[in-house]
Order: sequence, then C-alpha cells, then structure tokens
Amino acid sequence: MNDYDEIVQQIAGCTRCALSEGRSRTVPGDGSQTADIMFIGEAPGYNEDQQGLPFVGAAGNVLTSLLAGIGLQRSDVYITNMVKCRPNNNRDPLSGELEACSTYLDAQIELIDPKVIVTLGRFSFGKFFPGRSISRERGKPRSWGGRMIYPMYHPAATLHNPSLRPALENDFRNLLPLVEEVIALPPDDAVDEDEGKQEQQLSMF
Ligand code: URA
Repeated sequence: MNDYDEIVQQIAGCTRCALSEGRSRTVPGDGSQTADIMFIGEAPGYNEDQQGLPFVGAAGNVLTSLLAGIGLQRSDVYITNMVKCRPNNNRDPLSGELEACSTYLDAQIELIDPKVIVTLGRFSFGKFFPGRSISRERGKPRSWGGRMIYPMYHPAATLHNPSLRPALENDFRNLLPLVEEVIALPPDDAVDEDEGKQEQQLSMF
C-alpha cells in the first residue's frame, strides 16, 4: 500500500465527526496523484456520496466543462473537498467538521505537492485566508505556506447565478499560464511569503 492508499483507507474508516454517521461512501478525491493543480471544493453532495467521487453532480459538470475549455481532463488534475463526507441536505460544513477533516486534506496537499491550489468557493479559500471576501479576491493568486493559492468562485455558484460564469471562465483561462509562471520561479521565490513580491513577479495577474 502506498501513502496515498493509506490516506484513502484512513478516510474510509474515519469516525472523527458526525458526518460519518450519515454517509453512504467517503469521497477522498479523484485524479492524478502527481498533479500540478489541485482543486479543493466544499463537501460531497448526493451524487458524490453515492459514487464516492468528488464533483460528479451538476457542479461537477460545470467543473468538467471549464477544465475541457482549457484543454484539461479530470485525470490531469487532482480534485478533492474540504470534508470527505456529505453533510445532510447539503448544508454547509460546520467548523468542527472542517477541523476534523483537515488532517486528511493537509496530508493530500503534502503528498501530491501541487504547484497551484485552486480554491473553489469560500470554504476552501477560508482555509488559507480566513475572513477574506471571495468576490473581491477571486482570480488573484496568493502565496501561502510555500504554495500558490488561486481562489475562484465555486462552480455551483454559477448554477444559481449565471452572471458569475464569465469571471470563472476568465480565472480558468489564467490557470495554465499561472502554473507555468510558478514552475519558472526560482525555488526561493516560490516559497516567498511576501505577497507584494509575488504580485510583482506574477505580473500578468
Ligand atoms: N461536489 C463536490 O464534490 N464538492 C462540492 O463542493 C460541490 C459539489
């Protein structure tokens, strides 16, 4: 068993929070374990809970089509969520649930070691930058803990509010150039915590 399979097994047997009581299946994540890009959503919904895969319902269709729009398939990236079990009636995850599940997400980030983490919606953005406004900060890459965080709207938001779709499409168009920029950064600069410097270097944004 490799490290990734161990994380998946631990998630499968997890009873750290009450979400474990209502789940059909755990939803650890899907895609390439060596991906340069990791997407982090919020929580599994009904379809995800049934299939054990993230983003396979209506929001997943939006994500898959946005990926296709920039020439990527799901298997080119890694996709996961803040919590790995479905909250009842798709309610927002509670802070204790986010906290209980964070060990798994942290282990996934460490292991997969993506160049860019795309946060989808306010919960995953809040993991890295608590209290910031997603509508103000979306599309602006930021350095955090030696990684590049690229906040975007949640794909489900465009289902409720189609006027957000152009912004999401625009942020997707900038994703691959951003990954190239991060790859081109000297290692010391890639871990620089000074946002001013990062913004200067990532001039196109
Ligand atoms: N499906 C997921 O897997 N995550 C979300 O955040 C929404 C739908």
